[in-house]
Order: sequence, then structure tokens, then C-alpha cells
Amino acid sequence: MLQALGGVELHHLPWGADHYLATGETVPANGYDLLRSFDAILIGALGDPRVKDNRHARDILLGTRFELDLYVNYRPVRLLDARLCPLKDRTAADIDFVVLRENTEGLYVGVGGRFKAGTVDEIAVQEEINTYKGVHRIVRHAFEVARTRGRRSVCMADKSNAMQEGHALWQRVFREVSAEYPDVSSRHLYIDALAMMLVQDPAQFDVIVTNNLFGDIITDIGGALQGGLGMAASANLHPGRTSMFEPVHGSAPPLAGRDEANPIGAILSVALMLETLGRHDDAKRIERAVESAVRDSAVTRDVGGKLGTASAGDAIRQRLA
Ligand code: IPM
Ligand code: MN
Repeated sequence: MLQALGGVELHHLPWGADHYLATGETVPANGYDLLRSFDAILIGALGDPRVKDNRHARDILLGTRFELDLYVNYRPVRLLDARLCPLKDRTAADIDFVVLRENTEGLYVGVGGRFKAGTVDEIAVQEEINTYKGVHRIVRHAFEVARTRGRRSVCMADKSNAMQEGHALWQRVFREVSAEYPDVSSRHLYIDALAMMLVQDPAQFDVIVTNNLFGDIITDIGGALQGGLGMAASANLHPGRTSMFEPVHGSAPPLAGRDEANPIGAILSVALMLETLGRHDDAKRIERAVESAVRDSAVTRDVGGKLGTASAGDAIRQRLA
């Protein structure tokens, strides 16, 4: 796809499961510095079941998010064709929102430990970290996205009715930041209610901001609303710095090597990458090509087509006008 567009120099880093199993190395020494030297990073799906403790995924995906401080996980949810939606009677206009998932703290930081592991007395602790700076920058980013992209409202979702310490901070920050954006309407939902409403009436949502774990969970719902995880794209951003782009889905081990996996999530992630690099026309060209392939059912089986991965990719490349 990138070669077809031209003007992009590609460097391939072999940091996948094969490399890890052969060398024991996930990210080499100075690997994150190397990543910072590129304009953007495109990452394939992770989660090979041969790596039992998932260490390579943790170091590469979560490691890059943390080390490069990619605090915005930007996950657009857009239904490209009514046929793909698992909900009845929805049109493409009904499902068009973005989720801003906090990407550098929360339950993902790995603060905690296990005591007496493997015994009946085992105690397992995993702390959720919420910092004023961390919450503030993602909430502010959500309002900026709403304002600059002509979106009307920001919905912040937390669980402050049960998590009365950590999520009180989210409440306070949301109040503070929303007051600075009187032109954008703001709304709060508990995350469980949001999960329900995403299924009952997704048309009401525009920009959603939430913490790391809740964002992980609701963007799988978002994937389903678009036709399945194979359709979902994401950007891991630190505005102004080297950022990382990846499909929302994992490596789908049962599909590996079978020419069955849907390439659209990865291709739309490339569009997000080009958009972030300022190549708006190229990003639009990819999006239009994907929309056209979806309309013509020139897609893989998971979204109602008959093509394999490679031909579905070709179908999109041929449509790059
Ligand atoms: C995602 C994935 C990752 C996450 C996993 C692979 C650690 O589910 O990007 O949504 O939980 O962030
Ligand atoms: Mn996920």
C-alpha cells in the first residue's frame, strides 16, 4: 500500500515472535531510541501463542507505548457499510465516533505483585495508577479532537461510583477541562452504562475518553460495531513526536498463514499514519479505496466477501485513485 503511494522509505524491523523464539530478544538494547529516530512506526499484530507469557507483545507493544510516552490511543469507530453492522437497522451515519483511550497509565503500568504465588494463600495486587498530568493530557486531547474536527460532544466514562479514589481524579479533571471548552458539550457516563448504550444506540456518541483498561474493552465493542475486529484501526500518539500505528486486532493465531485474515484494520492504520504525518490526500485515498472495496464486497470472508488476505489487499490497491 505504502509502496503504491510512493514517497515513503520503509525500514523493516524483525521483532516478531520468530525473532524472539530464535534469539530470546524482544526489543534490542537501544531499540526504543531506534524507534524514536523514525517519523512513524507501523506495527503488525502481536500475540503468537508460542510465546506463553506474551513477553514479546508486552515489550514491543506496551513497551513502545510507555517508552515513547504515546499517551493517546486514538481508535476511530466508523461503519463503512450498513451490511457489516451486527445491530439491526443501522446505517453508516449511525456509527461514527472516536475513542480516546489513555495509553500510558491505569491498570497497565504493572505496579503490584504476588505474594505466596501458587499456594492457596496467594495474594495478587495490581494497582491502577491515575496521575493528574496523565488524566489531564488525555482529557484535554479529547476536547481538542472534538473542537478541531468539528465533533459536537465529549463523553468521559469512568467507574467513579465504585472506584471512589482513582476515578474521583477523572471527575475533577473532566470538570476542569470541560469548563475550558464551552463550545463542546460534555457528558459523563459510568463505563458499564456506556457499554450498554454503545450497543443500544451508538449514534449518540461522538468523542469518548476513558482510561486504559476501559478503553481496551470498549474498543472491542467498537470493532464489532464496524463489522468485526478485522476492520478496526488505531493510532498510538504523542502529538508532535514519533507515533505508532497498529490494527486493534491481535495476531489471530488460528488464521496465521491461511490467507484468511482481514487486512483492512492494518490498511486503515496506515491511513491514520499518513494523516498524522500530514499526508491528508493520501490518507483520504486509502480510506476511499477501502470504502469502495467494501461496497463491492471485494473483501475477506469475515466481512462477507470471498477473497483471501492478499487479494483483498490487492483489491484496495487497485482502487487507489
Ligand atoms: C490492544 C490489545 C493490547 C492491549 C494487548 C495485546 C496487550 O488488546 O491493543 O487493544 O490490551 O492494549
Ligand atoms: Mn484490545
